[in-house]
Amino acid sequence: MDTDLHELLRGLRVWEPGVTELPPFDPAAAPAEPLALFTRWFADAVAAGEREPHTVSLATSDEEGRPDVRIVMLHGADADGWSFATHAHSRKGRHLAARPEAALAFYWPLRGRQVRVRGPVAVAPPEQAQADLHARSAGALAAALTGHQSEVLGSLEELARASESAWERARSAPHTEAPSWTLYRLHPTEVEFFQGETHRRHVRLRYRRTDTAWTRELLWP
Ligand SMILES: Cc1cc2nc3c(=O)[nH]c(=O)nc-3n(C[C@H](O)[C@H](O)[C@H](O)COP(=O)(O)O)c2cc1C
Repeated sequence: MDTDLHELLRGLRVWEPGVTELPPFDPAAAPAEPLALFTRWFADAVAAGEREPHTVSLATSDEEGRPDVRIVMLHGADADGWSFATHAHSRKGRHLAARPEAALAFYWPLRGRQVRVRGPVAVAPPEQAQADLHARSAGALAAALTGHQSEVLGSLEELARASESAWERARSAPHTEAPSWTLYRLHPTEVEFFQGETHRRHVRLRYRRTDTAWTRELLWP
């Protein structure tokens, strides 16, 4: 029998009062800048056993302003911005070349938390991208060396051949460069922290960058 998608959807719940335990969040006690709070929430997501807390939705838009979104790995967050890496010629790479602006959304369901980050995106120096890649796993290098990301693929056999030879190179020459592999840094103008609450009194705290500092404001959920 075919799955009834709508029935499945109706049966699913988030945040049931008296059932789900979510942490409190006091925005009055939040730090003056978002990176400190992001680091705290990220460490908390790891400690809570959140699966792959470093995966994040990355939204970009094409030259006509049409949006797109996909998951990438977070490579870092510091004074230079939130960083991720991909191929410059991929769809998102082309979007970022045309419109160097992006947004990130993290979701950590065990803690009922979402973090949204938006702002302009800059390309890091190529040597930083290669160093970052070489500090990662053989699999990450093999994936980067396989190349052709977002191009139409003729067959899975073609992928298997390219991937096998990329794995061989990644293992035998771990410092091989993947020239199109690019490290991007999103320099946030806005960072929003959302703490889910079972009675739907979710707490939203938005940081907005001004010339000199960050302003903080609450948002209706
Ligand atoms: C868990 C997960 C992590 C991923 N991490 C990356 C990444 O760090 N960089 C990347 O280029 N693609 C990553 N991908 C693949 C992207 O989601 C996407 O399929 C690919 O980058 C092509 O996107 P595009 O055609 O919009 O450029 C990841 C996918 C998943 C599911």
